[in-house]
Amino acid sequence: MKLEIEQLKELAAERAMDYVKPGQKLGLGTGSTAEKFVALLGARVKEGLDVLCVPTSEATRIQAESLGIPLTTLDAEPFLDLTVDGADEIDNELRLIKGGGGALLREKIVATASESMIVIADFSKKSATLGGFPLPVEVVEFGLKTTQAMIELIANETGCNGKVILRVKPDGTPFRTDGGNLILDCAFHRIPEPEMLAEALQFIPGVVETGLFLGIADIAIIASPEGVSVIEAPEDADI
Ligand code: A5P
Repeated sequence: MKLEIEQLKELAAERAMDYVKPGQKLGLGTGSTAEKFVALLGARVKEGLDVLCVPTSEATRIQAESLGIPLTTLDAEPFLDLTVDGADEIDNELRLIKGGGGALLREKIVATASESMIVIADFSKKSATLGGFPLPVEVVEFGLKTTQAMIELIANETGCNGKVILRVKPDGTPFRTDGGNLILDCAFHRIPEPEMLAEALQFIPGVVETGLFLGIADIAIIASPEGVSVIEAPEDADI
């Protein structure tokens, strides 16, 4: 089954390559699915494809550099044509949960700086209601317990209940994002009103960003054993 999922990720990444045009400025996502897209892009660059890319994490930067993909920064190129990235959960309106790999802040900055965002995934990421995947929330270290308690309280008011847990590495020390912040994983199981929750969480001063990507993805490329489907976001989901 594991091998099959890896093949499906590869198929989704391959289809996303159809959207890449010479001369484009691209955002490069993070995670195992995005990694496959970056590998395919690297092969095309070796064949002469001209693109300029902004990675969404140090891990992706290292991979892209090793493949000879020309890189830039948002400081040099504030706006991009297209970002291709994975997701942890995708609903029918192409609302996403991201941040399983901890790169949600840079991923959201890069995706919103892009004219369009394509999300690539295997079918296991599709879900009728977001929340099955614990929602990652990037927070500052100062006042951690206060922020954690406020998230629980505010989430509760929007119909979300569940444990809010500090992400730790296998050695037990806190996981740090590329920006040096911490991640609280919120096991809500069900997020009935993602917009309401996202808005409420942004009122908490210690919250840097949430893994809710709402109205950002334009297209989802979902690979399943039955084939690859391309889903477009509803019109009004545009940012
Ligand atoms: C990284 O922070 C995440 O947002 C990833 O995009 C997400 O976790 C998907 O990763 P996989 O493709 O490895 O499932």
